[in-house]
Amino acid sequence: MNKILYVCSEAFPLIKTGGLADVAGSLPAALLSKSQDVRLVLPAYPEVLSKIKKQKIIAKSQYYMQSVNIIETKLPGTKVITWLIDCPAAFNRPGGPYTDQHGDEWHDNAFRYTILCHAAVDLSLNRLSINWQPNLVHCNDWQTGLVPALLSLYINSPKTIFTIHNIAYQGNFDQQMFNDLHLPKELWHMHGVEYYGKFSFMKAGIAYANKITTVSPNYAKEILTDEFGYGLSGLLNHRKDDLSGIVNGIDEKHWNPGTDELIVQKYNQQSLPQKVINKTALQKELKLANSKKTPLIGMVSRLVEQKGLNLILEHIETIISNNKVQFVILGAGNFHYEMLLCELAEKYPKQLSVTIGYNEALAHQIEAASDLFLMPSTFEPCGLNQLYSLRYGTLPIVTPVGGLVDTVIPATSENIQNNTANGFMLEGDNLVETIEHALSLYQQAKTWKQLQLTAMKAHFTWKNVAGHYIQLYDSLKSS
Ligand code: ADP
Ligand code: GLC
Repeated sequence: MNKILYVCSEAFPLIKTGGLADVAGSLPAALLSKSQDVRLVLPAYPEVLSKIKKQKIIAKSQYYMQSVNIIETKLPGTKVITWLIDCPAAFNRPGGPYTDQHGDEWHDNAFRYTILCHAAVDLSLNRLSINWQPNLVHCNDWQTGLVPALLSLYINSPKTIFTIHNIAYQGNFDQQMFNDLHLPKELWHMHGVEYYGKFSFMKAGIAYANKITTVSPNYAKEILTDEFGYGLSGLLNHRKDDLSGIVNGIDEKHWNPGTDELIVQKYNQQSLPQKVINKTALQKELKLANSKKTPLIGMVSRLVEQKGLNLILEHIETIISNNKVQFVILGAGNFHYEMLLCELAEKYPKQLSVTIGYNEALAHQIEAASDLFLMPSTFEPCGLNQLYSLRYGTLPIVTPVGGLVDTVIPATSENIQNNTANGFMLEGDNLVETIEHALSLYQQAKTWKQLQLTAMKAHFTWKNVAGHYIQLYDSLKSS
């Protein structure tokens, strides 16, 4: 049995901006169910505090003259003991975890997440009189990158794992920030947190963790290249022997069309014909033309370049003007993309619905209602939406990158014949042709159903995933 401190900047259902929260909301519980002793550490953002019921302060600390309470609670819906780092100066403010109400990064993010890291280090070293010491600390993304670096300065500190969910977000700041935060000078060098003269949280995690993981084997290979490594491929190549990829799972409690309380009509493989009831309900709700037969393409996404918005905006009018298909898009992010999509929706109100914002229920309804799911990412470390789509018999249209390659098997005639196909994959930027191909197969009811059933059978369970992490954890015991 391992004692694991799992450190993260978001976790569903307490706070979520993307797939990272889904992972941190599921993996600790799956580890617990496999007899691991795991504690989750999260910042106490106001949204988090508003969602927890039972809580008690179990320890106090102080960083940069700011008092910090460690609040103990359980992650709702699970038995995972969760420690919230309650530092009002860092976390008690309106807006999102990383950005303000206008979508601009908080100016003091380095300070905020250094506090999270200091608290995690004190918990790792059992310095807050809680009387629990982990043998492993599992950190996630740049916000936690200083934890392995700081722990490396202690003898007998727990072993560290650093998981990269997205290498494009690195937490890079000026050297002055490093000095202002009075971080140990020993960390400032080219093999440490220094990154072309800047101070990098992501580099700190990669340089100092005992093991590095990312969220799919294919992305683990890709980040070794200049194209996908975002400037860190050199260091990652240097650490190649300690780097591996483990595909994420899906939370069957929340993402199962047979039990999903957020959708109009539940369905499973046996009752698949009922899926269409979700489509007509959503068409009505979003004022699209009501038609069972028209294929519906869904998209739920952060509206950022990564998610293929440039390609979509370049081609969507061509596809819509063929008059054979409808789109429903839910997302928030870059204002420019939001505006362009809304303009198009005004132009084609019966064929394109765009909802700007974050809406959990609508996300589920789109997965259940759509025939196809659009995810032409420029890079995708794992991707959870295509996994949800597969589970809902909603065939994903993806690019051949990252975790999309590890999870989507394209509908070539060979793959259809041997019953493995479960979606569609672009070659280059042939979005229009790929959609045309999908629409032609949609007309072949028998083949389509076969693709859907193959998709729905794919099982990406967190229990399996937890097994892989435990193997990794165990390998650290003997090293
Ligand atoms: P990423 O983490 O890069 O955003 P993923 O596919 O791993 O991509 O995970 C995205 C998660 O965020 C999914 O659970 C998806 O349903 C959710 N999501 C993204 N945008 C929205 C939105 N506007 N409303 C509701 N859920 C969203
Ligand atoms: C990141 C990635 C996404 C991945 C998620 C959870 O947000 O962009 O591909 O699924 O983290 O690991």
